[in-house]
Amino acid sequence: MNSIKSDGIILGIETSCDDTSVALIRGGEVASVLVSSQASHEEWGGVVPELASRAHLTTISPILNKALEKGGISLSAVDAVAATNEPGLIGSLLVGLNVAKGISVALGIPIITVNHIEAHLLSVMIEHRIELPYLGLVVSGGHTMLYDVAGIGKYKLLGATRDDAAGEVFDKGAKLLGLGYPGGPLIDKLAQRGDPSFHSFPRSLVHDPSDDFSFSGLKTSLRYFLRDRYGDTGPDERALPDICAAYQEAIVDSLLIKTYRVAKLLGRERIAVVGGVSANSRLREKFWLKADEQGRQIYTTSPSYSTDNAAMIGFVGWLRYQSRSFDELTVTANPSMKEAKAVRRAKGRPRANSQEA
Ligand code: KG4
Ligand code: ZN
Repeated sequence: MNSIKSDGIILGIETSCDDTSVALIRGGEVASVLVSSQASHEEWGGVVPELASRAHLTTISPILNKALEKGGISLSAVDAVAATNEPGLIGSLLVGLNVAKGISVALGIPIITVNHIEAHLLSVMIEHRIELPYLGLVVSGGHTMLYDVAGIGKYKLLGATRDDAAGEVFDKGAKLLGLGYPGGPLIDKLAQRGDPSFHSFPRSLVHDPSDDFSFSGLKTSLRYFLRDRYGDTGPDERALPDICAAYQEAIVDSLLIKTYRVAKLLGRERIAVVGGVSANSRLREKFWLKADEQGRQIYTTSPSYSTDNAAMIGFVGWLRYQSRSFDELTVTANPSMKEAKAVRRAKGRPRANSQEA
């Protein structure tokens, strides 16, 4: 029988993609969080699933020990263990989930499985008191999804990308420009010295009545632009800041236009932008400016909680711990969002100003 203690120290584990992360949440606060990003994928220009799961295996134990040491917490003091079990790379998910199961059995404590997208959606609550309902835009390497968040566990999917995720568009664009991986932070940095009006790249679907996004046209447009203007030699290094700024502007505008249109239609005053791409400096600037103009509030997280991290997993675990919502040890991992439990909801807009999911 699992014993339930009252102080609520939750160990969070995140291994859904290429970051190995462990965190400790005590009373809803982050006591420690450690993230080890796998550099081994750089030379391949993207994540290699087999390499990712092997790297998690070697990294997870040292990271776990460091997180405990940094948080000044002994493993025996942990009340529940939370791990990402969906969506993600199956081999990677299984490493974190099995470590969590082992800890649950060894200590006799409950296990809580967490949906990675839900964790991103609620990650704004780690640092802010955000009133419900709010619009949640999840922009990461694998997902671009717009949700109406009516409460914990009450999510309505409004729109999603029809092709590439926003982070993928940054990463693939960076690859075309001969930059490294992941491309988002590199484009962000170069763009700070560039002119966004240097070239007008397409903002697909912004006039479409759906709440979906599309980026494949933008990526193709960059490829043709580079071929037509710079031929086989590619752009001169001096042109990179301008190209990056113009390309980034098109991604940010596509996200901004759709999100604010939905916010207006539904009458949502609060918008949370979360996930790795929400660390983008231009995105933050433009979302904040627009919010000021329209009298809405934007919520983002510190950059370390934007990209993949176990603090958000432990935090959702902590929320579930309050309602004693635990999983069985037979719980499995789901690589795709289709089988995912927490944020799988029929698409469609709720009524304007409605509180229901
Ligand atoms: O949430 P995340 O860490 O992992 C996934 O769940 O996918 O997101 C990673 C993505 C990568 O595509 C990366 O290029 C992008 O987030 N990213 C950024 C920035 N920092 C990370 N994209 C644009 N600007 C940034 N500053
Ligand atoms: Zn993520």
